[in-house]
Amino acid sequence: MNFDFTEEQQMIRQAARDFAQRELIQDVLERDAKAEFPHRHVQTMRELGFLGMTVDPAYGGGGMDTVSYCLAMEEISAVDSAVAVIMSVHNSLVCHGVEKWGSDFIKEKYLKPLGTGEKIGAFLLSEPEAGSDASMQRTLAEEKDDHYLVNGTKNWITNAQCADYYILIAQTHPEKKHHGINAFIIERNTPGISLGPHEDKMGMRSSDTHSVMFTDLKIPKENRIGEDGFGFSFAMKTLEGGRIGIAAQAVGIAAGALERSARYAKERKAFGREIACHQAIAFKLADMALKVENARNLTLKAAWLKDMGRPYGLASSMAKLYAADIAMEVTTEAVQIHGGYGYVKEYHVERLMREAKLTQIYEGTSEIQKIVISRALLRD
Ligand code: CAA
Repeated sequence: MNFDFTEEQQMIRQAARDFAQRELIQDVLERDAKAEFPHRHVQTMRELGFLGMTVDPAYGGGGMDTVSYCLAMEEISAVDSAVAVIMSVHNSLVCHGVEKWGSDFIKEKYLKPLGTGEKIGAFLLSEPEAGSDASMQRTLAEEKDDHYLVNGTKNWITNAQCADYYILIAQTHPEKKHHGINAFIIERNTPGISLGPHEDKMGMRSSDTHSVMFTDLKIPKENRIGEDGFGFSFAMKTLEGGRIGIAAQAVGIAAGALERSARYAKERKAFGREIACHQAIAFKLADMALKVENARNLTLKAAWLKDMGRPYGLASSMAKLYAADIAMEVTTEAVQIHGGYGYVKEYHVERLMREAKLTQIYEGTSEIQKIVISRALLRD
């Protein structure tokens, strides 16, 4: 077994680290406070090739592997998860699905600008009454002569405002339940789309999250992804890849909190010596490091399985579940190690703790991952 990264993977990780540690760090606190979208940083990610990084170069992408994508996600998330989630949704939930299951027409028209990062994508699955229970889609895509007519509402949509293209999951044949669901790619400036207000979130505050409403939106038939009724399978398969990205994000958040805590523990003195010299703190750091390493290994294994073309749904749910849960634990300990300083914004760890919480919720809660894992275990 080879645990070494290739030269290319190391270069990508370093480029992401430089971007995060030199640029994102400068205004992350201000953007978090103001919930301000990071336009300038999205442009830099575009220039660095992080938007569309795994897409085939024939479609303008970077042709990189999932391991590289995870390394970049981890480094960016260690500093600013709001920026990382924009990249994650674009790459995992939009580019991957379009590349794997889109028709030639869809790939030619939509994947090329997504692959270069010129256009940004969003993934519209959740609804007011279909969050964890994703098959209960109420948004209706009625089949007409040469188009679908869509009415309904989507909730908690990352990139809702900044995206140019949406992947929309909607119900076409309610009597067929999940077998009647379809996936479409649509342009955000099409008449019939309106947005709710910016969600005032606990963490990842500078990423853009809105509800999206559809009123008599017309989608050309050629914009349907896959066969009629493929939409639920499409969403589930796409989320398998998405969860690897969120696992990498959670690893990054935890690693960022660990790095800050170790640095602080070597500087801060109490009872006549650096607090790192007290076992109460040193043991906490050891536990945190172990959790980060385990989560990273699970995440990279899921990424590697995907790169090898092997099934990765179980591994991605395990990685996402474990990484999100330890991100919450590690960031909570980081605040504890920092004492009063951990509870104020300047030291960043309270922000990392708020960001960690979201990784336990989106792209399937921790409980949903346990459903996926236990069903796989008990299937045979
Ligand atoms: N791949 C392909 N097909 C799958 C699948 C997978 N991973 N998982 C399930 N399916 C298929 C099954 O084979 C089954 O098909 P058949 O009926 O033909 O046999 C069908 O889907 C239904 O399967 P289940 O009965 O297992 O489905 P379920 O209704 O019990 O739900 C679930 C399963 C795992 C709970 C699923 O609903 C789920 O993942 N929910 C969470 C949704 C989620 O992650 N939402 C996140 C929103 S996106 C987001 O957060 C993006 C963002 O902006 C950041």
